[in-house]
Amino acid sequence: MTSISQLTLAEKAALTSGSDTWHTQAAGDVVPALTLSDGPHGMRRQVKSAGDALGLNNSLPATCFPPAVALGSSWDPELAHRVGAALAREASAQGVDVVLGPGVNIKRSPLCGRNFEYFSEDPHLTGVMGAAVVTGIQSLGVGACVKHFAVNNQETDRMRVSAEVDEQTLREIYLPAFERVIRDARPYTVMCSYNRINGEYASQHRWLLTDLLRGEWGFDGLVMSDWGAVNDRVAALAAGLDLEMPPTGTDAEIVEAVRAGRLAESVVELAGERLLKLARRVENRRRFDGWDVAAHHEIAREAARAGAVLLKNDGGVLPLAPGRRVAVLGELARTPRYQGSGSSHVVPTRLDNALDALGAAIEVSFAPGYRLDGHPDEELAARAVEVAAAADVAVLFLGLPDAAESEGFDRTTIDLPAAQVELLRRVAEAGPEVVVVLSNGGVVSVSEWQECASAVLEGWLLGQAGGSALADLLLGTHSPSGRLTETIPLRLADVPSHLYFPGADGRVVYGEGRYVGYRHYDTLGTEVAYPFGHGLTYTRFDYSGLETRETGENEWSVELTVTNAGERFAHEVVQLYVAFEAERPVRPRRELRGFAKIGLNPGESERVRFTLTGADLAQWSVSRGGWAIDAGPFAVEVGASSRDIRLRAELSSPGDGYAGPLTGMSTLGEWLAHPVGGRVLKELLSQGTGLPDFERADPALLGLALGVPLIKFRTFGIGLSAEIVDRLVSAVEQG
Ligand code: GLC
Repeated sequence: MTSISQLTLAEKAALTSGSDTWHTQAAGDVVPALTLSDGPHGMRRQVKSAGDALGLNNSLPATCFPPAVALGSSWDPELAHRVGAALAREASAQGVDVVLGPGVNIKRSPLCGRNFEYFSEDPHLTGVMGAAVVTGIQSLGVGACVKHFAVNNQETDRMRVSAEVDEQTLREIYLPAFERVIRDARPYTVMCSYNRINGEYASQHRWLLTDLLRGEWGFDGLVMSDWGAVNDRVAALAAGLDLEMPPTGTDAEIVEAVRAGRLAESVVELAGERLLKLARRVENRRRFDGWDVAAHHEIAREAARAGAVLLKNDGGVLPLAPGRRVAVLGELARTPRYQGSGSSHVVPTRLDNALDALGAAIEVSFAPGYRLDGHPDEELAARAVEVAAAADVAVLFLGLPDAAESEGFDRTTIDLPAAQVELLRRVAEAGPEVVVVLSNGGVVSVSEWQECASAVLEGWLLGQAGGSALADLLLGTHSPSGRLTETIPLRLADVPSHLYFPGADGRVVYGEGRYVGYRHYDTLGTEVAYPFGHGLTYTRFDYSGLETRETGENEWSVELTVTNAGERFAHEVVQLYVAFEAERPVRPRRELRGFAKIGLNPGESERVRFTLTGADLAQWSVSRGGWAIDAGPFAVEVGASSRDIRLRAELSSPGDGYAGPLTGMSTLGEWLAHPVGGRVLKELLSQGTGLPDFERADPALLGLALGVPLIKFRTFGIGLSAEIVDRLVSAVEQG
């Protein structure tokens, strides 16, 4: 058996690029060609050479599961794992070795055209859900590909734009989901993003692809490019990018660079070794001739049910009471929008619609009410109003057309089409109670119109079984259990990134820093339409018996009891936040650090347990180049959303005991707070060096002095010379 090192240089170079849109290169009996295929929520297997990365050409039928916007809203990692395993079964049946997903980029702005493919504005939730999908996919030996690494939070100018993001924000917001997936789920592959990060393309970003991903996180798989993301083959290989997809016919550049001594042949070999390792990992994938189409459709239906979010339900208009005259309105009820556009597009094996699903269970009237292309149509509207007037309840399906959002471009508004909002107003005026059901991949504004509706069910994009899932929830065969993973703002202008998104002139500045989503709104106390974590159901849950216990240094157990106090079985998503209060914003007011989705029968209770560690309190310190745990108080908040905190406990952390090096430029305050520095300084004070007795000094003077670097006191004529400062620094170094 030939090894990589025995291949010719040309053969080695060829392995670092694909053989066509969906295949890697083979090399004799050393490395077989592997088949890669989208996508994150359903297979887009293109068997003809007319492959494309944009969802333009057709693909083999496969189950279209709910995209990440809905799967994420289920807050159910076990379900996500099962969806991943079902994806893998279909992938393997279609001869696919690596599924190109999940995407775990953070929803920085609701305007991002690809938010339907991502899980949340929160990195913890995104990481947990992304890891669950990866473990599901890889449970059958099929490879997963976590993407798009990294800081790919917009579609505008995505192949060139430089995301200008500070180190702390990068570490606390845009990297943690990838880190969690890498450490917890160990994906076989990572896909780098198109964009630049602080000026350097991700495809040739050595710190990102090698120092961080492999050196710090221990990734041991293969890094591939997004399709067309490599701009410099040699620089990409040197940075740690192993595989260019699809091929650009530039292997000669690799050969020439090695021969010219600009690239070590060992680097080319290493990329080949990683491809060989991937081939060995997937060669043992479970083999299937097909899958149970109906069973996978039911998994898609279950996932869709779990992802829809009941935002509002005034007067308990839902579930629909038997015997009421129900009008179903809106073309989206008959012609569902169930997935997003672009590379994740799936040809579904089946497609349910809500109208047929409702009509199979109850008597309904119907009118399309509007055109999907958004052009006003008075005849359709007038007819819908007539049908509404003859009903007790009008269930009006509204949402975004395909043209409004997609991979490849961003939105400029979060409004619903004006013709749809106008129809809603007229339907409400016609007299029936109104239930609005939404179909949208990115968040839409509800403030302008929700007073016209008694209930609002956010149906996102729910995959091929979404229509029947929505009927299940509307009819009450199941209780809604989805929760928002992205805040719905009152206004687009309230969005923290609004002033900076999507940037211009080749740059997008992440000026809001780590204050993304609820981290912004909750820190400023900004009113929102519906908060992160929000979602109603058809029962009520009581929270009681919060107990916290210190189980080690910077380790706590947190327990509480949740009780179904209503009349129906339902799920609750118990959310655990760590919270920090300060007179002025010094860090996000609260951050999600745990969650549990539990199903309870009426009257049933469950004891829910969490563990908190110092890592849950840590912030990234740029000066230390690492995570820092500050000593001091914090709160544990447990609730049903970031704004519906039911129980709270005050705790305190001893910090991480870090006492950094002191220098003459360390302030007096830092010297006094330092365990060694404070002692040696006070010893000096006791020798009467003429230093004022700061601890008994006038508070105003002390306040002024604490912020002064110690060396600066040498000009104050108080006898603190540079030599004394040097002696103090040495004393601290000697401990
Ligand atoms: C696309 C997408 C990526 C996809 C790839 C292959 O441009 O960004 O998510 O997997 O190309 O279609």
